[in-house]
Formats: sequence, C-alpha cells, structure tokens
Amino acid sequence: MSSLTGKRVLLIIAGGIAAYKALDLIRRLRERGASVHVVMTESAEQFVTPLSVASLSGEKVHTALFSLTVEPEMGHIELSRDADLIVIAPATANILSKMANGIADDLASTLLLATDKKVLAAPAMNLRMWLHPATQRNLAWLRANNVAFCGPDDGEMACGEFGPGRMSEPLAIVAAVEAVLAIGSTTIPLPAGVGIRPEKPPGLLAGRRVIVTSGPTHEPIDPVRYLANRSSGKQGKAIAEAAARAGAEVIVISGPVAISDAAGASTIHVETAREMLEAVSRTLPADIFISAAAVADWRAEAPAGDKMKKSGNGPPSLSLVENPDILATISQHATLRPRLVIGFAAETTNLVEHARQKLARKKCDLIVANDVGTGTGVMGGDQNTVHIVQADTVDSWPKLDKDEVAARLVDLCVTKLEEKTR
Ligand code: CTP
Repeated sequence: MSSLTGKRVLLIIAGGIAAYKALDLIRRLRERGASVHVVMTESAEQFVTPLSVASLSGEKVHTALFSLTVEPEMGHIELSRDADLIVIAPATANILSKMANGIADDLASTLLLATDKKVLAAPAMNLRMWLHPATQRNLAWLRANNVAFCGPDDGEMACGEFGPGRMSEPLAIVAAVEAVLAIGSTTIPLPAGVGIRPEKPPGLLAGRRVIVTSGPTHEPIDPVRYLANRSSGKQGKAIAEAAARAGAEVIVISGPVAISDAAGASTIHVETAREMLEAVSRTLPADIFISAAAVADWRAEAPAGDKMKKSGNGPPSLSLVENPDILATISQHATLRPRLVIGFAAETTNLVEHARQKLARKKCDLIVANDVGTGTGVMGGDQNTVHIVQADTVDSWPKLDKDEVAARLVDLCVTKLEEKTR
C-alpha cells in the first residue's frame, strides 16, 4: 500500500507552460492511491483543456469562481475542507503573489485564502520573474507562513534562458507530497476562540416537538374586507425562537403578520381560525402546544363573493358565527392531546379572574394572562406584563421584553414537562 492511499489532493493548475506536466502529476498521484480534485485558473485553460484534466483525474474539474453559484454545496470552503493537502502545480509568479498578498479574485485564489489546509507549491516561471525582488519577497513571506515548496529546478527555460524557474518533475512533486503528508496533520489551526463552533450541549427541549400559534386571524367579510385584531405575532415568534434555542423542533402556525418568520422554526401561514385549527390538527402530535394566537372569535356567516357595495339603504347587517376554539379543541383532543397545553388570555378587565375561567373552560395546563387595555402598548409593542395562572397559583412577572417572557416561559415548560413525567 502506498503512503498516498486514500489521501485527497486538491490540485490547482495555474497558467504556465509547465501546465502540461500537471497531467502526468495527476496520473502519478492516482497511481499511488490518491484522489485528485482539480481547480484550473482561467489562464491554465490556455495550456491544457479541462477535458483532458477531467479524464485523467476522473473527477469534475472546477474552472471558475462562477461555478460556486451553480454548485453551492461544493463552494471554495468545501473544496479545500475535503482535501488533505493543496498542491499548486505549476505555481506561477501571479498565483504566488496573490497568495502572499491575500488577493481572492477567482476560484483558485479564493480557496487558497479560505483554506485551513497546508499548501505545497511547485513554482514554474521565467528566470527573471523568479529572481525578481517582488517574487522573492512573496516567497519569503509564504515560506514563513507555512507554505511548502518543491523546486523550481535549474534548467533550460521554454523562453531560451537558463537558470532556476523550471517546474520540478512530477515524481519529485509526488515525493514532496508524501513528505508533507508524512508530517501528520496538515490542517492549520485557528487561534483560540474562533473557528467551527464547539458542539452545543443538547438543549433542555431537545427531542421535543412544540407547536405555537401566533398572530391574529383574518376572517373575510367580502373579497376586500375582513375582521381582525391588533395582534402583531411578536410574542408568539419570540416563544417559538426560545423553544428552538432550547433544542425543540418548533412549528409555528401563524396568522397574517408583518414580521419575519421565527428563526429556527418552520412556519405554516394561514388566514382564518378554521385554517389555523386545521393546520394545528394536521401538525399533531406534539409534546407542547402554546396557543399564543389572538384568534378571531367570530367570522361572517356568509362572506360575500363580490365586494359589497353601498346600496343607499344604510349599512348592511353582518351576521356572525362563532369560530372553533382551537385551544379548547386541542386540550380536549381525544387521542393526541399534547402533554403540556398553554393558553393566553388577553384581557382588559378582571385579568386573573377571566384567566382562571378560561383555564377551567378550555382545560389547558396554564394560562399566560396579560392586560391588553388601551395605553398598555402590549398589542404590537415589544414588552409584556404577564401573570402565570394555574389551577391554584398566580405568579405575576414584572414588565419584561417579549423575548424575556418567551425565555422564562420555555424554562417553565421544561419544569412542567418534568413534573408531568415524574
Ligand atoms: N383561542 C383559540 N381559539 C379561539 C379563541 C381563542 O385558540 N377561537 C385561544 C387563544 O389563542 C388564547 C386563548 O384561547 O390562547 C384565549 O384567547 P382570548 O381571546 O383571550 O379568549 P377567548 O376565548 O376569545 O374569550 P373572550 O372572548 O371571552 O375573552
């Protein structure tokens, strides 16, 4: 077994006359068991064709930064992350200069700037370019920054001059690849505190499924008018996000709102109370149901198919019928009642008393009661003063941001679920 068996080399072919030797290099690396993915710069394509590179490497050839938009899953980060080593052969004065100066203006230079892998460069260029102080300065910087070099060799140049600048022979580059890989890990560590986020401990709601209703419902009167309320959906969104942060799988059933969907949750958008009930029922089972939506209590009995017009005989009478009570339906579900069912009570008078009545009537486990009277600024605002009403206790929380209410409510859910499983 060769020392290269199973190794993944990402080969960058830059634009130089020595590019043809890269074809042999691919063959030699593969003979020894390495897989070779190739990125070609635009000018490399003047010297060898992607087709011959692809047939020798047995892999698709990446030719331009543009291909990142076509293949987002194989972006520059992934390309180099998957490799054990990056080899640049031939490494032109241009690509070495881009590397030393942090320039990223095509796929090759971009992935060289973004990579966490060791780079081995096999320079090839005209003698004077090699000896130029600018190139020598770049080389010194690259050497000091962990880039390995193979060559260049002395010899006759394609341009007729003699001296250093010829790309090393493929077998010499293979030996250098083996030598670099033999050193061990070629991944360049990042400074402490940055990089891939450490694995998060599983959240307190990991493995739990939570359904949250949110926002108002709109009940059509005719194609242009509807019955609604002032709910913004902010509190429901905050609860959904807090539950998602705690590791739960969260599904939000949202009425029409002007805010963005909750991060970390999936959202189903509905219009009416009946659609909301249907969506919640379809989404069961769940461990927790939080009914934060301000569901319209009534809907027009027979919404007009066309826009209602003024008839000259005064306003039309609107006949209303009651909407289904989603919270009561779910908390009395014969087979799929979530273990914890939480309701809200938006009140303007006798807050706790009304909340207690709702708790009993709707048979939920607790009610989050809040005063939404004129001047409280709760509807649409960012803060909320709530009371946690249970069968025999009332816990009044201070005025808090809706995010903080959400975080506390999620903590309470964790405790209640634990109590119920005991
Ligand atoms: N709710 C519901 N379906 C309805 C009405 C309300 O699921 N058709 C839920 C709300 O999401 C909330 C709780 O029931 O969690 C209480 O809502 P609220 O509007 O305060 O109470 P109502 O049941 O509408 O009672 P009332 O009109 O007497 O205040």
